[in-house]
Amino acid sequence: MTDAPHATPVTDQAAYAQAVQTAVDAAAAYYGAGDSSLDDDAYDRLVRGIAAYEEAHPDDVLPDSPTGKVAGGAVIGDIPHTTPMLSLDNVFSVEGLAAWVAGFERRLDRPVAAWSVEPKLDGLAVSARYRGGRLVQLVTRGDGTAGEEVSHAIGAILGLPAELSEPVTVEIRGEVLMTSAQFEAANVTRVEHEGVPFSNPRSGAAGTLRARERTYRVELTFFGYGALPLPPDDASDLATRLRELPHSEIMQVVAGLGVQTTAATPVAGIVCTTVEQVQARVEEIAALRAELPFGIDGIVIKADLAADQEQGGFSSRAPRWAIAYKLPAVEKITRLVDVEWNVGRTGIIAPRAVLEPVHLDGSTVTYATLHNPADITRRGLMLGDHVTVYKAGDVIPRVEAPVVHLRTGEEKVIDFPSECPRCGGEIDASQQRWRCARGRACHAVASVSYAVGRDQLDIETLGETRIVQLIDAGLISDFADLFTLTRDQVLTLDRMGPTSTDNMLAAIDQAKAKPLNKVFCALGIRGTGRSMSRRIARHFGSMEAIRAAGVEDFQQVEGIGPERAAILIEELDELVPLVDKLVAAGVNLTEPGFVEATAVPADQEDGSVTAPPLTGMSVVVTGSMTGALAELTRTEMNELIERAGGKASSSVSARTSLLVAGEKAGSKKDKATKLGVRIATPEEFADLVQDLIS
Ligand code: IVH
Repeated sequence: MTDAPHATPVTDQAAYAQAVQTAVDAAAAYYGAGDSSLDDDAYDRLVRGIAAYEEAHPDDVLPDSPTGKVAGGAVIGDIPHTTPMLSLDNVFSVEGLAAWVAGFERRLDRPVAAWSVEPKLDGLAVSARYRGGRLVQLVTRGDGTAGEEVSHAIGAILGLPAELSEPVTVEIRGEVLMTSAQFEAANVTRVEHEGVPFSNPRSGAAGTLRARERTYRVELTFFGYGALPLPPDDASDLATRLRELPHSEIMQVVAGLGVQTTAATPVAGIVCTTVEQVQARVEEIAALRAELPFGIDGIVIKADLAADQEQGGFSSRAPRWAIAYKLPAVEKITRLVDVEWNVGRTGIIAPRAVLEPVHLDGSTVTYATLHNPADITRRGLMLGDHVTVYKAGDVIPRVEAPVVHLRTGEEKVIDFPSECPRCGGEIDASQQRWRCARGRACHAVASVSYAVGRDQLDIETLGETRIVQLIDAGLISDFADLFTLTRDQVLTLDRMGPTSTDNMLAAIDQAKAKPLNKVFCALGIRGTGRSMSRRIARHFGSMEAIRAAGVEDFQQVEGIGPERAAILIEELDELVPLVDKLVAAGVNLTEPGFVEATAVPADQEDGSVTAPPLTGMSVVVTGSMTGALAELTRTEMNELIERAGGKASSSVSARTSLLVAGEKAGSKKDKATKLGVRIATPEEFADLVQDLIS
């Protein structure tokens, strides 16, 4: 495959034999206990190197070689499969996918009318045999011909019921995995039971599925991706339907029987009729990957119709009518070199992992979050450990777990700080997140810098040096103090002449009139960035109403659950003195255009009620704005969209209702055109929302 990742070079016979041994061991561990010492990328590169050597030296091929074998030839179980459990061929790029589709259609000698596009779940394949509606046997994939019986796990896998909704006999195939939450919970349980943590969700699923005697319970999840007649020549109604229905409809049958499919997830399988649609869905699934509560390592594209599958047929390893579009690895093994402790703007002392640099999903990762001290303990991490690190898209990289079987004995315990690493003061360790006892005051520079930033109070003349000066001179201790600064006070500072002083005070004065959402955002409460602050300000209308709100009131705001509501109340309580100062200084604390939720919207003359113009629409903006919108920043455009009742989004998908495309619009416009998304010029958009442009 031309677009495949690089191969590990295998230069001579000895290196070849060694490479085969390493790959065989790694595959055995991967499909066995799940504790391979190679990450997926390293294994793939090794097998490619082996394949390249074998191509050049066909006489040297060792019988153990993993090339061309299902599961690298790793596991041989003793339960024969009714129909082989095959692998999938791979492509790694849009071009690779287009070439594969073209090749398949050439083979059929006709275009394929329907493709089913679904996530490639990163777990283990299992076959679940149901007789008379009862789950009687559970078998792993093994070498594809026979697998290992794991029926003891029946009843412990969410989504795979012990009994179907109908008394049918059928074989369901799908993937067993650990969701991120199940993985976290499993490792807490394991560490509590003096066991070693699983190094990643996949090995957790493998280890748990095969474990027979455990004194504790660990939960797994199943997603079905196929169903077969049982036995293969069964003549029942259901069996006949399974032979004739399109794959997408078989999945509905599976779901109807009570087995979980991905239908309820954001990456549900969908049917596409053109290659362009397939590519768009592939991109969509790839973009959703970071937010999914379970791991995926690609996208599976299947010819949907039974006739196309039948004519396409199978190779010894994989169906010819399906392909896996592999996504880049988002998890790698590297070494934990150090743990740093940083104090944030709210005084929280957050540990950060320093890693041996590793390349992950397009960037080099050197740091990863460790959340809090309890998290380090829970994960059983030690300095010098090999660790699995996860990073996808823009998400902050995280350390998943240590790879315990790679320990050498040289690892060291991670020391927790006994005093605030910033000011040397006391630490409040009463909560999971440790905090400097001085709270925001410990890192006032950071919290004031945040408050005057572009998306909050936007006081441009206040750079960090000035803030440090103001704090050091004892003139301010938080951003509310800015509003009571006097000219004389500021003039006492170094390098502050009358002009710069007046400019600074004028800028501060202007900020007094900012809408509530900006002032609220400036408070820097955890979990309240720009858009959440806008939602809160629009919901309550005034700081007074926000301060009076209880847990339930906050939960009326979209995106706020009980946990966030509790944080809001706790932090607002702490901010009482600061907010009192804002009130006393005459800072605006109301949201312009606020309409009480219970109030009836403005009526038309004829008595009808109009909804805002973008109600229910998802709108994306690209390119530079012109006309009435020329001066608006992207944040201001997003605010306008939200004021008009729409949802501002940054990427185009099939769910986008409107793309506002200005000058020099690029790939987003192309994508919208491809997907048939409505496109408006800035002028057309301005017309649409004219009543809201001031
Ligand atoms: S279809 C005959 N669909 O990928 C068709 N497989 O590399 C083969 N997998 O062993 C399976 N998600 O463990 C199929 N939506 C999906 C899948 C999927 C994950 C796994 C499965 C299979 C492996 C092949």
